[in-house]
Amino acid sequence: MTGELTVAEVGVDVVLPLRSAVLRDGGPAGLPGDDDPATVHLAARAPGGRVVGVVRLAPAPCPWQPAAAPWQLRGMATDPEVRGAGAGRALLAAGLAAVAARGGDLVWCNARVPAAGFYERHGFCVVTAPFDVDPIGPHVGMLISVPDRWVRAPGPVTTA
Ligand SMILES: CC(C)(COP(=O)(O)OP(=O)(O)OC[C@H]1O[C@@H](n2cnc3c(N)ncnc32)[C@H](O)[C@@H]1OP(=O)(O)O)[C@@H](O)C(=O)NCCC(=O)NCCS
Repeated sequence: MTGELTVAEVGVDVVLPLRSAVLRDGGPAGLPGDDDPATVHLAARAPGGRVVGVVRLAPAPCPWQPAAAPWQLRGMATDPEVRGAGAGRALLAAGLAAVAARGGDLVWCNARVPAAGFYERHGFCVVTAPFDVDPIGPHVGMLISVPDRWVRAPGPVTTA
């Protein structure tokens, strides 16, 4: 992929097709709370507008660490054709910025074990032993304190 990648807040209808294709093998991909007004859905688009990455963030108590305003990250997925081009990173940055802008102080997730290195690379810590989520497979609990530097929304990402 070449050109500018943009990330924006979108409605849930925009994120569902890629979430379904990547995370649910084409099956139903709705999550509880998707339609809650507090839930934030983000989409990364390639030049031309094709959706190449999605994520959602929603207020939710953290199972492992007390926090004043914890948020859960779910449904992170990028199109296999653009992996490694920065879509995941841009979505994570925009997601943390969106949480910070809403007063959130912590983001946590149940990370698929093969994706844990992606979150670690961007500052998340593993805080649980691996646990199985049937039928998906092994996960670990991960979290990050939302630092002040995320309050500034990132600009567009340009890929070479
Ligand atoms: C995990 C996922 C979202 C990463 O998306 P991506 O578009 O490849 O991410 P980026 O291109 O922004 O990668 C950013 C950096 O993280 C690294 N990275 C990406 N996936 C990684 C992984 N699984 N483990 C370790 N590092 C990873 C990249 O190499 C890149 O490194 P760099 O900073 O040296 O360039 C994507 O691989 C995916 O959708 N996987 C399948 C679905 C999934 O598991 N989702 C997470 C559910 S918890």
